[in-house]
Amino acid sequence: MGIDRSELDAFNQHYRDFVLGAFPVKITVPYGPYWRSLRGRKWLDARFSQLIAAARGRSDMQGTLAALLAARDEEGRELTEADLIQNLRLVALAGHETSASVMAWAGIVLAQRPDLWRQLLEESQAPSALPQSPDELKRHPFAEALFREVLRLYPPLSATARQLTEDVTLHGIPVPRGTMVTVPLGTYGYDPKLFPDPERLDPARWMGRRQQPSPIETAPFGGGPHFCLGYHLAWMEIVQFLAGFAREVGRRGLRPRLVMGSAPPKLRYLPFGQPPKKTLIELVPA
Ligand code: HEM
Repeated sequence: MGIDRSELDAFNQHYRDFVLGAFPVKITVPYGPYWRSLRGRKWLDARFSQLIAAARGRSDMQGTLAALLAARDEEGRELTEADLIQNLRLVALAGHETSASVMAWAGIVLAQRPDLWRQLLEESQAPSALPQSPDELKRHPFAEALFREVLRLYPPLSATARQLTEDVTLHGIPVPRGTMVTVPLGTYGYDPKLFPDPERLDPARWMGRRQQPSPIETAPFGGGPHFCLGYHLAWMEIVQFLAGFAREVGRRGLRPRLVMGSAPPKLRYLPFGQPPKKTLIELVPA
């Protein structure tokens, strides 16, 4: 997107403010969540607007912003400034916070489970390079299983929303067209009918399968026409991260461990399911 590294902290801080708008209390008290959300959004939009202006003058630019600037619809129209800003604001959040959260949880899980660490290490040492294509991903079945299992237990998003386009009856209760309904994505992974003994973290549930995961098994990515646009990218980058992390840490004769006395890793949504900032892992001799 052309964001300078030196600005990443400022972007991070303003995104943290912006996402406070997910809380349903829309009262604009100064420094309250909604006020901070609006302030964060204003800052982000001003920065995205500057990035767009800078990118317009460049012909050599590559990446998301350049692709959005070059995009045309069926009638050859380009995206408006408002569309560009909204897309950049969404993609930076949707594409980063979610995958980063799963990677952080996976690190914590590996720090607590030496058995899983050993399996990952063994698998990551076999192929000569990190996976770059869907075919190469097949050489990392354990890393993929770990990604799906960590996502099941620690989904970054607990819910998505839809507005009903027709009247429906849910569990005998009529719900009229136009109603906003919440789809509790985070709860399906804990359903014992879908995942026996759901609290147990067991990547083996996902191994040796012939068919692709079903729509309910990929529910942490939503469903239907608005199913996560970044599913395959997230799958690739998280498997790459797991394989790379195990290789590099293993090569140095180290392994991850939870720091004694650091905060217990408890899942909470404020509003995303990241691990607590005070849960720390360290790398110690294997
Ligand atoms: C583990 C990683 C990720 C998780 C758990 C996740 C989850 C989700 C969920 C739950 C939705 C809402 C879907 C719905 O309402 O049905 C969504 C939408 C979206 N995600 Fe992701 N996501 C992840 C990674 C990514 C990445 C890497 C990108 C892009 C680089 C991305 C881009 C998007 C976009 C653009 C949408 C909006 C799609 C639409 O409304 O049509 N996501 N994601």
